[in-house]
Amino acid sequence: MIIIDGKKTSEEIQNEIAKEVEAIKASGGKVPHLAAILVGNDGGSETYVASKVKTCEKIGFGSSLFRYPDTITEAELLIKIDELNNDPVVDGFIIQLPLPKHISDQKVIERIAPKKDVDGFHPSNVGRMALNMPTYISATPYGILQLLERYKIETSGKHCVVIGRSNIVGSPMSILMARNAYPGNCTVTLTHSKTKNLQELCLQADIIIAALGKAEFLTADMVKQGAVVIDVGITRIKSDKTKSGWKLLGDVKFDEVAPKCAFITPVPGGVGPMTIASLLMNTLKASKGAVYK
Ligand code: GUN
Repeated sequence: MIIIDGKKTSEEIQNEIAKEVEAIKASGGKVPHLAAILVGNDGGSETYVASKVKTCEKIGFGSSLFRYPDTITEAELLIKIDELNNDPVVDGFIIQLPLPKHISDQKVIERIAPKKDVDGFHPSNVGRMALNMPTYISATPYGILQLLERYKIETSGKHCVVIGRSNIVGSPMSILMARNAYPGNCTVTLTHSKTKNLQELCLQADIIIAALGKAEFLTADMVKQGAVVIDVGITRIKSDKTKSGWKLLGDVKFDEVAPKCAFITPVPGGVGPMTIASLLMNTLKASKGAVYK
């Protein structure tokens, strides 16, 4: 059984990008620049955005953070998006979600110029992904593809069961794993809350991607010997055994599932740390004009 080290893989990717940025700087090229918009004071969002900006600095990207109170109107936010769409310094930008209730996520996402949508949330980029065209794949699915690739996990002809059909993970993962590409070429079963025979389907899976958001949902009696298990869940629960008083649980009951697996991602330290690497890879692609020529 191999435990997939997302933290180490993410650091490797960041080091590779940092080297490329050095080469760009040395040759007088444009330094990649990521901008982020943060609305309100949500604790989780603040932490995520701060870490994105810090990582940009570490690897040599330019970055800017635009903060607004949660009283900002939708119209004001759309004006800021237009400004970033037209700012030649900014190669890509993200609007940290969730947004306050009076602002439509969909309207905001659709206003981002697809060529600067390094989150890969714009319908154009989602459509391009489904058509196997050059695009920005969103952070979590892209991170999972990187882990499969870097651990040289065979996917062609395998049966991949995806649990959960969210727009940001389950649904795109099901499309990506079925693409005529590597990683891909799987026979995919996309399962969800209305699926009747989930255990039976999971027991047939060579690869399981658990992205339903229920702590320790996937148990050993649902996994066949030698399977590859990718755990996308993160549920925070109170714990008296940790210093912080909190413990993170995945969607997989790790201790009992891991011994049956060929490969498994832990929580924390599996898929989670890969999301920042994905965002940086997308920003680098944006600065090179590698997606929209
Ligand atoms: N909120 C939680 N995850 C994400 C993400 O990947 N991108 C953005 N913009 N907001 C998020």
